[in-house]
Amino acid sequence: MSEQTTKRRFQSGENYRRGAGNLKAREGIFSYRRPQVDMPGMVIDRIGPDPKRILDVGCGSGRYLLRLRESFPEAEVIGVDRSPGMLEALPEPTVQADVCELPFGTGSADAVLAMHMLYHVPELETALDELERVLAPGGVLFASTLASDDRPEYTALWREATRKALGAEAKVEDTHRVVLDHFSQETAQAMLSERFASVRLHDLPGVIELPEPGPLVAAYRSTSSFVDLEAEDFERVMAQIEAELDRHFAAEDLFRMTVHTGILECRDPRRP
Ligand SMILES: C[S@@+](CC[C@H](N)C(=O)[O-])C[C@H]1O[C@@H](n2cnc3c(N)ncnc32)[C@H](O)[C@@H]1O
Repeated sequence: MSEQTTKRRFQSGENYRRGAGNLKAREGIFSYRRPQVDMPGMVIDRIGPDPKRILDVGCGSGRYLLRLRESFPEAEVIGVDRSPGMLEALPEPTVQADVCELPFGTGSADAVLAMHMLYHVPELETALDELERVLAPGGVLFASTLASDDRPEYTALWREATRKALGAEAKVEDTHRVVLDHFSQETAQAMLSERFASVRLHDLPGVIELPEPGPLVAAYRSTSSFVDLEAEDFERVMAQIEAELDRHFAAEDLFRMTVHTGILECRDPRRP
């Protein structure tokens, strides 16, 4: 039951209501990723010449949006997000909208991005219908999410800390699993292949080697609005995580996690 609560809260948008703080906390660990990957650059390189309109749906803090505008100054590059808190910090044009109801004409965008956002959406088929609808003939959709073997070490540490802090029988509120079970890279590839003649995976495995606990502690803390735990229990788990990491760093120089994401580039020459 409580995993359902975590999922519902994760998909509610509450975590992003006040802006990009929680998102940035979760992104912080990626500055220690090896190899570094320039995902906005990869998308930009594949859009093709002279796009007229690009939609960045679930644009968040504008990591892709701002780079797209630099690279395609002649194009109309629109940031779309459900959260007004996210859009406040971004330069126009931006549109507050849900991916399941995009206020754009059919076939009106040469490129559409849905990067690390579809795992927030309960009605995935409706979202994909909309992303496909707004795409122009010959256009390209980019979607990204996490592969199902992304960061098992992150899950393992949360699990261990929960059991130690709340008891061996405690139900573990595993936010990472909730994301992966709903919309992993493998699920995305299967769903998109039903719709597009060509779905090319740019697979991006790697490792994160953290030299200190701070960024990882901040990443766990950023999940407090959706983990189905009382505030007091959440704090007990966080204190245990800090203790586990202190113990780890007393013996080791680095905390290592294997990461795995990727970009799906979707095209369909059959589209009218
Ligand atoms: C993890 S962030 C990803 C941000 C950005 N695309 C990136 O990759 O850096 C997810 C974003 O999707 C937005 N979002 C979540 N559900 C949405 C929906 N149903 N429609 C539009 N945006 C949504 C959130 O507000 C948040 O800004």
